[in-house]
Order: sequence, then structure tokens, then C-alpha cells
Amino acid sequence: MEFEILKSNCTKILENKELKLNDKLLQICQLLKDKVESYDWVGFYFRNGDKEELILGPFSGEPTDHTTIPFGKGICGQVAVSNNNFVVEDVSAQDNYISCNFNVKSEIVIPLFVNGNNIGQIDIDSNTLNAFGKEDELFLEWLNNEISKIYNS
Ligand code: SME
Repeated sequence: MEFEILKSNCTKILENKELKLNDKLLQICQLLKDKVESYDWVGFYFRNGDKEELILGPFSGEPTDHTTIPFGKGICGQVAVSNNNFVVEDVSAQDNYISCNFNVKSEIVIPLFVNGNNIGQIDIDSNTLNAFGKEDELFLEWLNNEISKIYNS
């Protein structure tokens, strides 16, 4: 699906006043997983209060054992510290990687900033090698920016 169409579908979900934030995020995970062929697991992790750890939020795909990830551990934990996007072409080439499912070949993690603070991230796994490019990064940055606008509303 074209990212422009996906953007408009995401906007509709985020603007839906009947839904709470977590329901919106869950619907977005389901939408992305269903509509983008290479997206096999889509989820959000959020910082656990003042603790240096991430807690799994809404997600779509196989359940994972990794519902808590310490800062610095895995791709997600590294993004919590670096504040930078992390695109992994081939997860088998990463030393600091937490495997949730042995089918996963590539991954993208994009931090979510609210008022300049890195409060969490969107994490997407693909069963295809090198599934994520600049277009995915730009789309997911756009999405996190839209989420940040309604995060405290
Ligand atoms: N692979 C991630 C862990 C989360 S799962 O992909 C759902 C990581 O290395 O941090």
C-alpha cells in the first residue's frame, strides 16, 4: 500500500475521539501489519516511568517474551539511549540483538519524542532481509510525530 494512503488511514485513527490512546496505537499496529507486506510484527515500547527500561505496549503479531527491555540491550534498548533511528538490514549480523522470533531477518526502530523527550519507540520486524528503506524511515518518523501531538491529550 502507498504510504500516502497509509498516512491518511493513520490520521483517521488518531483523530477518532471515541478511542483511547492505546486503542489508537493498537489499531495502527494492526493496520501497518495488515497493509504492508514486509511488516510481520509491529509494536510500541514505552519507557517505564523513571526506570531505565522499556515496557511493551500495543502490538500486532506473534506474542513476544520480551515485554521488558533494559536500556542498552537489543536494538530497542540501544535506541532508548541513542535517540536515533536504527535500521537493521540483517539481524544475524548484530551482536547486541534480542531475538523475539527466529523467522525475523530485519528490523527498524524509530524513537518517539514528546516535548523533546525520548519516551518510547515503534519497532517493526520483517521476515524478509533488508526490508526497510528511507521511505519506511520517513513514514514512521511522520507517524511518531503525529502520535506525539496527541500523546497528552
Ligand atoms: N529485536 C528487538 C526486541 C524486540 S522484538 O523484536 C519484538 C531488539 O533487539 O531490541
